[in-house]
Amino acid sequence: MTSPLLPGFRLGDFQIDTPLVLAPMAGITDLPFRRICKRFGVGLVVTEMIASRAVDMGRERTLRMAELDDDEHPVAIQIAGSDPKFVTEAARWAAGRGADFIDINMGCPVKKICKQIAGSAMLKDEALVARVLEAVVASVDLPVTLKIRTGWDEKSKNVARIARIAEESGIQMLTVHGRTRAQMFNGHANWADIGAAKAAVSIPVIGNGDIVDAASAREMIRISGCDGVMVGRAVQGNPWVLGEIHAALTGATPPPPPTAAERWMIVSEHLDNLAAHHGVHCAAKLARKHVLWYSKGLRGSAEFRARFQQLTDWQAMLDCAAGYFLGLGEHVHLHELQAA
Ligand SMILES: Cc1cc2nc3c(=O)[nH]c(=O)nc-3n(C[C@H](O)[C@H](O)[C@H](O)COP(=O)(O)O)c2cc1C
Repeated sequence: MTSPLLPGFRLGDFQIDTPLVLAPMAGITDLPFRRICKRFGVGLVVTEMIASRAVDMGRERTLRMAELDDDEHPVAIQIAGSDPKFVTEAARWAAGRGADFIDINMGCPVKKICKQIAGSAMLKDEALVARVLEAVVASVDLPVTLKIRTGWDEKSKNVARIARIAEESGIQMLTVHGRTRAQMFNGHANWADIGAAKAAVSIPVIGNGDIVDAASAREMIRISGCDGVMVGRAVQGNPWVLGEIHAALTGATPPPPPTAAERWMIVSEHLDNLAAHHGVHCAAKLARKHVLWYSKGLRGSAEFRARFQQLTDWQAMLDCAAGYFLGLGEHVHLHELQAA
């Protein structure tokens, strides 16, 4: 469905009608969670970041990170790295794994990544940005996209210049998280800075940072003039927010909040997906994180979490979660209970 707020755009062979993008989040937006998010109207998904040197090693974990579903297209595999040799090898490898686009990460603020002059540290070296992007664009037949922050720190913000370098290097879509590297996740994303990138280029610009609901998505679009919105942390434990934002973008009636049964359907499907994809040992670790988020703000969640976090047996975890989520009944949220 075409969005009345955002007209959509073409990216390679794909028409992105509803430019609602799921943010790549390492350890979170794996295939099990992307499958859940996709059904709430996401128009484009991106895998977790894959370090280009890890690809070189062909580890099993890396292969799992790049596993794609037949029905999740269009999907980008995200690559990080600063050595054109490794990044282009990784891009070709990602193309071979069925990616529709290659997304280059120059936004990651994590020290380990920045130390290798990758992620957001690259924003300090504009010549290196151009070298890496041009090399990747030349190495694959797929559209290459880029995700950045607005600069290294407040004094050296170069979002508009990086946007122009990206466009000149053949990048076909740019995502801007409206924070500098120095800000990490503090303060509020600067949506006007996303607008500075938008004004500098004619490729589609996706705005990212601090969208938490339909109202904030609308406000970011108004302030930045972006062509699409990317949502990250707000989706943790709450994929339903994507349905709300999707409705705002398409002019549809917002969906009602999930009932207890609907909530459990999603949580249990997510848990099943985790076990099938990662095996129960790894799934148990990931489930603790996701279930904590799914239960945030819900009635009796503190007691439930204390019980759940103790469990190690997968079936016991499933039973405990089913008992809690299905037992929530009508007043699911703490604040509703207080108001009732
Ligand atoms: C736990 C976590 C992991 C992340 N991993 C990645 C990643 O692998 N690649 C990337 O480009 N951004 C990553 N990000 C950044 C998000 O994609 C997004 O830019 C950021 O969270 C701001 O958007 P939000 O306010 O909607 O969360 C990560 C963020 C979080 C919180």
